[in-house]
Amino acid sequence: MELSYHDFRGFVEQAKKVSDWRLIEGADWDTEIGALVESTAELVPQPPMLIFDRIKGYPRGFRAISLPYAAYKRVAVALGLPVDKSKLELVRLAARKIRSAQPIPPKVVDDSPLLENVMKGNDVDLLKFPALRFHENDGGRYFGPGGGLINADPETGYVNTGTYRMQLHDRNHLGLWMSPGQNGRQICMKYWQQGKSCPVAATYGQHPLVFMPSYTKFPYGHSEMEVSGGLIGRPLEVLKGPITGLPIPASSEIAIEGEVPPPSEEARDEGPFGEWPGYYSGGTIGTGERQPVIRVKAVYYRNDPILEDEAPLWPGAVKLDLHISAGVLWDQLESAGIQDIVGVYNHTSYLSVVAIKQRYSGHAKQAGLAALSCSAGARNGRYVVVVDEDIDPTNVKEVLWAMMTRVDPKTNIDIVDGCWSTPLDPRMPPDKRDSRDHTNSRAVFYAVRPFEWLEKFPKVSRSSRELREKTIAKYKDVIPFPKF
Ligand SMILES: Cc1cc2nc3c(=O)[nH]c(=O)nc-3n(C[C@H](O)[C@H](O)[C@H](O)COP(=O)(O)O)c2cc1C
Repeated sequence: MELSYHDFRGFVEQAKKVSDWRLIEGADWDTEIGALVESTAELVPQPPMLIFDRIKGYPRGFRAISLPYAAYKRVAVALGLPVDKSKLELVRLAARKIRSAQPIPPKVVDDSPLLENVMKGNDVDLLKFPALRFHENDGGRYFGPGGGLINADPETGYVNTGTYRMQLHDRNHLGLWMSPGQNGRQICMKYWQQGKSCPVAATYGQHPLVFMPSYTKFPYGHSEMEVSGGLIGRPLEVLKGPITGLPIPASSEIAIEGEVPPPSEEARDEGPFGEWPGYYSGGTIGTGERQPVIRVKAVYYRNDPILEDEAPLWPGAVKLDLHISAGVLWDQLESAGIQDIVGVYNHTSYLSVVAIKQRYSGHAKQAGLAALSCSAGARNGRYVVVVDEDIDPTNVKEVLWAMMTRVDPKTNIDIVDGCWSTPLDPRMPPDKRDSRDHTNSRAVFYAVRPFEWLEKFPKVSRSSRELREKTIAKYKDVIPFPKF
């Protein structure tokens, strides 16, 4: 299916057609927008996309958009998939799309709306944009969640894009918190080891198919911009950064160029910042270390620029209603030879669920342990749950039911220690965090009927899906069933 849009603002217009949205004028960037976004995502099922304009102290046109992907139909639009499918069908279609997309190198273009406004050198002023201070104890305003940092391996030229939070330190400095092992950080370290600053660019208000790969864990050397081209179906158009020479996606709303000096030369306190596990973590409070900064040398932005707000919310407030990482994990599991997978879903990276049609004794264990290790599931996890094919992995109630009724805790839980984690983990003991042993343990729940006595397992008493759907359709005007 052809994409119905060309850039983030085009996506926003298409998304308005398939789901709810609200325009809110006059809200305060200092925690008010944050609290409203969080409450909306927590309390309203399939929440509206929120478009903030005339933000306190800012002129009309300098907008922030929140919750663009908090309803799965909007994610379907972003992926160019049909909007009339269930969430699980969409994950499967996303997995197929990811598998069939061949990497396409970007194409350099000379012009872009980004060049409508340019600030260079002493004129750089990032305070011109309504960056949010999102949570009450955030140490400052943040630019980055929702953006992509671009840098290139000095030896191979491989260009990485990664989404990392960027604190707005002052008019021409952004803070950077890159968790250990991140590809963008590995590239910076190669420059720092030679005593050099790492040239970087970053974009905000990105084409959705630029943003999604930038926060998805692809192996080192696998360029996200080529993935974007494959998903879009044609080369991603990029400007050659006049200062760094780095490719800058031309469809972005805002872009910067600059450099990240070795932390021994310049580093600052970073955070605190409320992170997605629901705690203040990462940055200086999480690691005890001052963090790198970007010295911003140029800013480019479209007229009436949109800052995309992707500040993390606690897991009870859903911000990404369909994570493409689930599609990537599904594809990686199939590529690893796990057969008869009928569903994969990530309820944040702490809870991955894999549904299989069991074919042999040991099948569930094979699927669970593989899910721990594929790149899309290896980092920053906590629980993997393997369920039978009658459980919808996107449905938390069904997953919990399987865990409550099909797991014998003594025999159906494996603990694996020493896995790749991050200092963001609120349960990481302080001395372990300080020692830089950023690993954690995982539990794999085999919440499946025992294969050996499958036929003897009690039959499910819940009404069949067909009967439920028929009855809901008959009584939909009497009972306020949610309409999605
Ligand atoms: C909204 C959002 C914000 C994120 N912020 C950070 C961050 O501040 N630091 C970090 O290391 N990873 C962060 N991540 C996760 C990374 O984007 C993700 O691990 C990605 O794969 C990193 O790219 P890389 O593998 O190319 O380094 C964030 C993800 C999302 C969706």
